[in-house]
Amino acid sequence: MSGFCHVVTGASSGIGAAVAARLLARGESVVAVARRKDVLEKLYGANPHALCLPVDLELPDAVERVAAAVKNRFDAVRGFVHAAGFAAPAPLGLVKGDTAHRLFSVHALFPMQFLGWMAKRANHADGASAVLVSSLAAHEGACGNAAYAAAKGAVEGLLKPAAAELAPRGVRVNAVVLGIVDTPMFRESLMSLGTQEQVAAWRTRYPLGFGTPEKVADIVDFFLHEASAWVTGQCLVADGGRQLTWALSAWFSHNTYVSFIGYLPKICLLPEQGL
Ligand SMILES: NC(=O)c1ccc[n+]([C@@H]2O[C@H](COP(=O)([O-])OP(=O)(O)OC[C@H]3O[C@@H](n4cnc5c(N)ncnc54)[C@H](OP(=O)(O)O)[C@@H]3O)[C@@H](O)[C@H]2O)c1
Repeated sequence: MSGFCHVVTGASSGIGAAVAARLLARGESVVAVARRKDVLEKLYGANPHALCLPVDLELPDAVERVAAAVKNRFDAVRGFVHAAGFAAPAPLGLVKGDTAHRLFSVHALFPMQFLGWMAKRANHADGASAVLVSSLAAHEGACGNAAYAAAKGAVEGLLKPAAAELAPRGVRVNAVVLGIVDTPMFRESLMSLGTQEQVAAWRTRYPLGFGTPEKVADIVDFFLHEASAWVTGQCLVADGGRQLTWALSAWFSHNTYVSFIGYLPKICLLPEQGL
């Protein structure tokens, strides 16, 4: 293999797998990173454009391992999509230090160091683009989600300085901030904590429904390619309208509607009173 590649972390499942599949379908080269070698080989082993790279991103030498694989097989990185991650819900008082370190290592430290490697070694193609995957958890918070939310907050803190430092080199860095996406992570961790009724209640807060990995891959694809060539340092929220639900409930709730009608005559009288 030679030429340019896209490094996609979390490629063995959910969003990362959908992004990798999209790129490979167009004949673009992908370095598919995750821990489970067997799953990577099942998904990509037969594809001549894919390089399976089983690496645990918690390990201190993870960046060196990924960088070495890229250097050995390709000329440079054209795209970097950081979709590896996990959730570890626990009340604040029960968050173990080790779990918090693991969360920060995978979600925030790895992309910071990998972008640093791209900058330091100039190991990137012209017009290269990086996409970091964040979560509404960093914006809204929820009980039992402090460590995960803090790690995602760190990802978003990284976004602007990295984008600013890399812009003069022609490398763009953007982030997608996701609401609930129906992936194994959501099903295995979050759904296992909530009752069927709670999950149904969450769903009602998504006017456009929960996301799918393919819908997220569409957005990531936009950030990776020419259509977004003038965009960097931005967080795009993709949440199926989740953040509109307060606005929706405020305007359409019966009480607000009644008080709004009650308020109308006052608004109409204002001009007559010279106000
Ligand atoms: N699903 C949602 O509702 C949602 C919402 C907001 C944000 N997100 C974010 O979206 C990203 C993708 O999540 P997903 O929903 O697609 O989850 P997923 O289906 O569980 O996929 C997670 C991926 O991360 C990899 N991974 C986890 N720990 C790793 C480690 N230590 N080293 C290397 N790879 C590791 C997993 O591969 P291996 O197990 O093979 O290592 C897997 O490929 C995550 O950053 C997540 O926080 C998801």
